[in-house]
Order: sequence, then structure tokens, then C-alpha cells
Amino acid sequence: MQLILMGAPGAGKGTQAAKLVERYKIPQISTGDMFRAAVKEGTELGKAAKACMDEGKLVPDEVTIGIVRERLAKDDCKNGFILDGFPRTVEQADALAEILDEHGKKISCVLNINVPSEYLIERAVGRRICKKCGATYHIKFNPAKGEVCDTCGGELYQRADDNETTMKNRLAAYEASTRPLIDYYKSAGVYKEIDGTQSIEKVTEDLVNVLLSVKE
Ligand code: AP5
Ligand code: MG
Ligand code: ZN
Repeated sequence: MQLILMGAPGAGKGTQAAKLVERYKIPQISTGDMFRAAVKEGTELGKAAKACMDEGKLVPDEVTIGIVRERLAKDDCKNGFILDGFPRTVEQADALAEILDEHGKKISCVLNINVPSEYLIERAVGRRICKKCGATYHIKFNPAKGEVCDTCGGELYQRADDNETTMKNRLAAYEASTRPLIDYYKSAGVYKEIDGTQSIEKVTEDLVNVLLSVKE
């Protein structure tokens, strides 16, 4: 299955991708996670991405498309994948169609986790992530039992862009560049929407139910 998880910043893409990875045994490909890894490694890509991410702006299309093209050529993508946070522009969506075509594949389903903007700042600002295993928590909606990660004991940290100011820019970038993809994928006949204001468990249940009817 070639899946795209769409949704505004903080909608729950990463949280749900982790559940789908476990269930379908296909990799999660998060461009945001790839950029953050590059920032940590201090590569040229990381330096270029950091400037955009800190401002809540999109990283230029040619850079983003390049890293996804490389990633999708890897062996573990043969049986499918879950794209999380890509594509985010019409140009990226066109490039993805081309890349998949080269691999003789197509998109099985675009799952849009729909959450109205008034929920999103609180979700992002309250998010905490495990430094060691990447598990995602929320101080109110999905708290860790103690000060550290429940599963691995790792330290919890807050993402640099999870503040109210940057979040406003991220939401604006979503509205301007990413929301148009809803109509784009509706026209392609692969679009499904899930109510992302429900509990994490219920959102997973709805996603799995939608996927029952998806042909590979
Ligand atoms: P990226 O890392 O993709 O960030 P994002 O799109 O802003 O999305 P988030 O990761 O913030 O949210 P999410 O939907 O994964 O939510 P999560 O599950 O964590 O991108 C970061 C930056 O990289 C971009 O701003 C851009 O600069 C650059 N970038 C990345 N991809 C790019 C691209 N394709 N093109 C150009 N630039 C790109 O959940 C959020 C919080 O809510 C958590 O605390 C969670 O516990 C909680 N939560 C989740 N579900 C629920 C629920 N159902 N109820 C209550 N709380 C919930
Ligand atoms: Mg995410
Ligand atoms: Zn952990």
C-alpha cells in the first residue's frame, strides 16, 4: 500500500503513522523527521532546512523532492510506505506521481486527518517527544506517566518549532500551499477524510476501517 497521511501541523500524522507502521509493517516516511535528523547531523541539507523550519516556512520543493526520491528508491519501500507530511505543495504532488510512475506504482489512498485550526496550537505547544525512541506525548491529551518516556526511559523534549509564533506561520503555510491538495486528490479519486478531533484510538480505528476497502 502506498499511503499518504495528510493533515495540518499537529493534526496527528506522526502519532497515527506509528500505529499504521506497527499494523501494516511498511515504513513511515516523514520529511519533517528527515529534516530534523539532517539538522542534528549538521549537514548542508540540515543547515538549509533549519532556516525554513525555524520560521515555520516550507523547505524549497526541489530539496524536499530530492530527499523523497532517494528515500523511495530504498528496498524497504518495495511493499509500500506511509508518507507523513509529503507532499505539501502541488509541485511535490506532481513529482510524487512521476516518481511512483517510474517504480510502476500508484497512490493507494490519501488519508486526511481533519482537525480545525483552533485545536492545533494547543496540540503543538503541548507536544513532548522522546529523545531516544521518538515516541510522541502530549502534556494534556497523551501524557507520559512520569518525567521520562514510558517505553524506553528517554528524556522528553519540545521541538524548536512548537511555539505559538512559529505555529501560526506553519498554519499559514498549510492554508496557502497544502490545503489545495485536498481538491487535487479528490479529483484523483483517492481521497478519504477522517475526523481527527476524536481520541487517538478512535482515529486509528477509523483509519484502519477506511483501509479495509482500499485496493492496493
Ligand atoms: P513536520 O515535522 O511534518 O511538522 P507538521 O506538518 O507541522 O506536523 P507535526 O509533526 O507538527 O504534527 P503531526 O500531524 O505529526 O502531529 P502529532 O502526531 O505529532 O514538518 C516540520 C517542518 O519541516 C515544516 O514546518 C517545514 O519547514 C518542513 N517540512 C516538512 N515536510 C515538508 C515538505 N513536504 N515540504 C516542505 N517543507 C517540509 O501530534 C501532535 C500533538 O497532538 C502530539 O502531542 C500528540 O500527542 C497530540 N495528538 C495527536 N493526536 C491526537 C488526538 N486525536 N487527540 C488529542 N491529541 C492528539
Ligand atoms: Mg509529525
Ligand atoms: Zn522513548
